Amino acid sequence: GAAINGLKNRWEEGLKARQAVLEASKKQSASRAWAWDPDLPPPLPARGALHPLNRLMDRLVEVFRPLGYHVEEGPEAETEAHNFDGLNIPEDHPARGSADTFYFAGQKGRLLRTHTSPVQVRVLKRLAANIQETGGIRFLSPGRVYRKDEIDPTHSPMFHQVEGMLVGRGIGMQHLKGTLAHAMKALFGPGADVRFRPSYFPFVEPGCEVDVRCPLCGGSGCRVCKGSGWVEILGAGLLHPNVLSYAGLDPQTWSGFAFGMGVERTAMMVSLTPDLRLFFELGQRFLKAMGGL
Ligand code: PHE
Repeated sequence: GAAINGLKNRWEEGLKARQAVLEASKKQSASRAWAWDPDLPPPLPARGALHPLNRLMDRLVEVFRPLGYHVEEGPEAETEAHNFDGLNIPEDHPARGSADTFYFAGQKGRLLRTHTSPVQVRVLKRLAANIQETGGIRFLSPGRVYRKDEIDPTHSPMFHQVEGMLVGRGIGMQHLKGTLAHAMKALFGPGADVRFRPSYFPFVEPGCEVDVRCPLCGGSGCRVCKGSGWVEILGAGLLHPNVLSYAGLDPQTWSGFAFGMGVERTAMMVSLTPDLRLFFELGQRFLKAMGGL
């Protein structure tokens, strides 16, 4: 009996001591700004997502993949030979000047590529060797490019382009136009208002630019389309014979087209974003609204 009473006493003392501890911690947590509430939903883990520019480039790749285009990548640090010489851009062309192009200090002929077109030169040189067996070349190349531009709603010293190229026999303007019209419809919808306008680039002949009617103002004129109602999103043309022969292809046998698309411009048009800087500021609200987070 004495043993059992002793046990009972120890048990009651233990219980009291524990109760005091719990009372004290209850008081403490009530005096804090919050108290533990088991009914609150847990905080959701933050989830990453693809950036809207990456999603647009992925989408373009998916538009061209069924047409037989594969993806090629080229380096952002390029040589003058790939960025200019192989593209028939003359020695005295203004784009070659240090006012427009970032050159590496102390490394002759090394620069940050000013467009994705040097990938044309690299791929042509590599695939020219067995073009007889393959019958042609088709590729798409998304990536970053750099120009000494001041930052404003439609310019940035770093932006993205998607280069595209097709080489084969008897390729003409009709193939270029059909392909790009198809791509524009896939991006902007079947009713998209698109125009082809003659233009000049040293590496194509003839050359053209492709505009879409500015979806931001519907064509009445705004800051983004500079009042014209149209926004240029593509440069394109038939491969200049000098570009083919630089890569070792006979322009008598082979012909083709190439195009370079401005990704930010296109993204602005697709998503009705009036300022390119929003794509680079990484604001959570903007990215969420774009469906990226
Ligand atoms: N490289 C040109 C630019 O940056 C675009 C272009 C690509 C034009 C291919 C013609 C053919 O503006």
